Amino acid sequence: MALLPILCYPDPKLHRVAKVVVSIDARIQTLVANMLETMYDAKGIGLAATQVDVHERLIVIDVSEERDTPLVLINPELVWTSPETHLNEEGCLSVPGIYDGVERHDAVHVRALDEQGKARTIEATQLLAVCVQHEMDHLMGKVFVEYLSPLKRNRIKKKMIKAQREDAK
Ligand code: NI
Repeated sequence: MALLPILCYPDPKLHRVAKVVVSIDARIQTLVANMLETMYDAKGIGLAATQVDVHERLIVIDVSEERDTPLVLINPELVWTSPETHLNEEGCLSVPGIYDGVERHDAVHVRALDEQGKARTIEATQLLAVCVQHEMDHLMGKVFVEYLSPLKRNRIKKKMIKAQREDAK
């Protein structure tokens, strides 16, 4: 297994739209294992393939306290969203150190394949529901800061570029 480099906002590659996973083969299973390792290492609760520069519809999530309940969603589709929404504070491994409020559905039902190619529907609520919506946005090329005001977003963009420049020194 290997740790994968995570793209950082405002990298334009984060805005690419992911394609459907055509076959769940050894390449995809290795990608899943590496993405899980990368997510746990970065202490994140979710990671989309887009964030590791693979533009295919695949996300990994673990919202458990013990960090021992990985969830793999391949070709995820939202089949139901609750009419109720809530403002939740979100962060993202691609926008380190930034947390802000985003309005999300309280509950969602998501249909996806697991890493064995088995189809299932997950009924997500609370933190899992927020995480699923956040990660599925990544697959559409959307980063959570795009929900914020242009003023806030530009401030974040400048901060990120400055931090990346300093990291490169
Ligand atoms: Ni994210």
